[in-house]
Amino acid sequence: MATHTEQLTRVAVQLRGLTRSFDGRTVLDGIDLDIPAGQFVALLGHSGSGKSTLLRAVAGLDHEVVGSGRLTAPERVSVVFQDSRLLPWRRVLDNVLLGTDGEERGREALAEVGLEGRERAWPNELSGGEAQRAALARSLVREPELLLADEPFGALDALTRIKMHALLRELWKRHQPSVLLVTHDVDEAIVLADRVLVLEEGRIGLDLTIDRPHPRSYRDPLLGEYRERLLAALGVTEDHA
Ligand SMILES: Nc1ncnc2c1ncn2[C@@H]1O[C@H](COP(=O)(O)OP(=O)(O)OP(=O)(O)O)[C@@H](O)[C@H]1O
Ligand SMILES: [Mg+2]
Repeated sequence: MATHTEQLTRVAVQLRGLTRSFDGRTVLDGIDLDIPAGQFVALLGHSGSGKSTLLRAVAGLDHEVVGSGRLTAPERVSVVFQDSRLLPWRRVLDNVLLGTDGEERGREALAEVGLEGRERAWPNELSGGEAQRAALARSLVREPELLLADEPFGALDALTRIKMHALLRELWKRHQPSVLLVTHDVDEAIVLADRVLVLEEGRIGLDLTIDRPHPRSYRDPLLGEYRERLLAALGVTEDHA
């Protein structure tokens, strides 16, 4: 098995001049980006800055992203959204297994996210946090090389969100996919990611490596410096006076 360092030398995602416009309005304006295999990247940006557009393009969900750009992504990609998108008429285990076989692996994935024993539950019997756990299990069962997540914890309460952060980081460590996590939460980005990007006027305006050990404390004063740089890049100052 490759060591983590060896793995990081392989590139999982490569974007060159990626451009996307809607009705003549340019949202992504020639984005260049390399994500090494196994790297955990967070993507910040104002509402409407094009985060979801970028993620959809990398996921291969945008069939109109053509023209000037070039995009390389791994074959096995999983996507997690803000709502779990579980099919209400299928039990939890069947949702996790959707389109795959190997019931045992599905059960394992559910156990990994703390949903052991809930295999036969219906999606509407799960809390919001549990449904997102099931969505994570569904993404894991495919052993993705790349995990794309678009504000996966955006609809959860603060406490559940903190637990989900620890869970996601643990799953990442065990499975080692590259991760591209879209979030509007600066603290979520710096606590989870090894690298934080800020999308700004269709480009990567800031590319920041977060060089702090894990698990990270939300109160680590050194993280405060990263927070300030990111907030500044987002045009937010903490001084509301
Ligand atoms: N299918 C589409 N047709 C037309 N315009 C679109 C389409 N998809 C996205 N846009 C526009 O592109 C811009 C970027 O949208 P996008 O959803 O990528 O933003 P975002 O950064 O994810 O925002 P948020 O933080 O609110 O989720 C917006 O102005 C949006 O209206
Ligand atoms: Mg979005």
